[in-house]
Amino acid sequence: MTAAQAQAWGGKTTPDLEEDDLRYFCQIIEERAGIVLKPAKHDLVKTRLRSRVTANGLSSYGDYRQHLQSLAKNDPEWQIFTNLLTTNKTDFFREPKHFEYLVHDILPAWLKTSQKTFKVWSAASSTGEEAYTLAMVLGRYLPKDRDFKILATDIDTSVVEAAQNAVYSISKRSEIPTEYQQSCIDIGKGEARGWFRIKPHLKEKTVFKTHNLIERTAPDEGIFDLVLCRNVLIYFGADNIDFVQKKIYSTVKPGGHFFIGHSESLQGLKHNWKPVGPSIFRKGS
Ligand SMILES: C[S@@+](CC[C@H](N)C(=O)[O-])C[C@H]1O[C@@H](n2cnc3c(N)ncnc32)[C@H](O)[C@@H]1O
Repeated sequence: MTAAQAQAWGGKTTPDLEEDDLRYFCQIIEERAGIVLKPAKHDLVKTRLRSRVTANGLSSYGDYRQHLQSLAKNDPEWQIFTNLLTTNKTDFFREPKHFEYLVHDILPAWLKTSQKTFKVWSAASSTGEEAYTLAMVLGRYLPKDRDFKILATDIDTSVVEAAQNAVYSISKRSEIPTEYQQSCIDIGKGEARGWFRIKPHLKEKTVFKTHNLIERTAPDEGIFDLVLCRNVLIYFGADNIDFVQKKIYSTVKPGGHFFIGHSESLQGLKHNWKPVGPSIFRKGS
């Protein structure tokens, strides 16, 4: 922050976030993305939106609220607002039991069918680690005469862009089991030192797009053998969890599967999935 900006805020480094402005920001992010910001996350609202107050040349969160209220629904500032309030934590091979279930249960059954292409949707894909993990696993375990396609979507345009780059800090390399590393990633040299990239033959199987899970429409890519919607339902209220599980149900093939995060649950909802493992569900054939 410049000295002039600090002065505009009465010498304070951060303006106060008034209760009614906080309530407004929380209400809008729930309406737009389904994300319920619990009191423990309220400090995060202040920290994350601070940069937008300064970037717009404003002096308080109340001014930023008024600024947002004056904008058209499709103004780019709304997307920036949404991007700032998402939580994007993810890892390669996160919750590895799901990938073990894919290898030992789902794929052997699928290989007994005559289908050619195994189709997966990584819904809420963040920076792409989940989608590329799927590509690594499917690339390793599917025979040459079978193919796979991965659709990966997220509401946050900045993570979708990062995922499309397929370049990660070398510090994340250890998340990838050693037996996958040689065939799945290229380690950067020279100017790219400190980074690795996903090998092109895996990257090209993965399409990243923006998609809002709480919107009525499903992706155009048709129906899937497997949908992962992990570690995002935890931020939603019961109505949106119900809406999303129903929408995903309509995109899964009969006999196909649905994974949610290990700390998430469909408990208390009336649904048609058959639970077949920890946070693993199957659609009846
Ligand atoms: C914690 S990350 C989970 C990433 C990955 N699925 C995993 O389990 O590692 C949650 C992601 O959900 C996305 N998200 C939040 N609300 C969303 C919505 N309404 N539609 C689509 N994605 C959403 C966020 O942008 C964030 O990238």
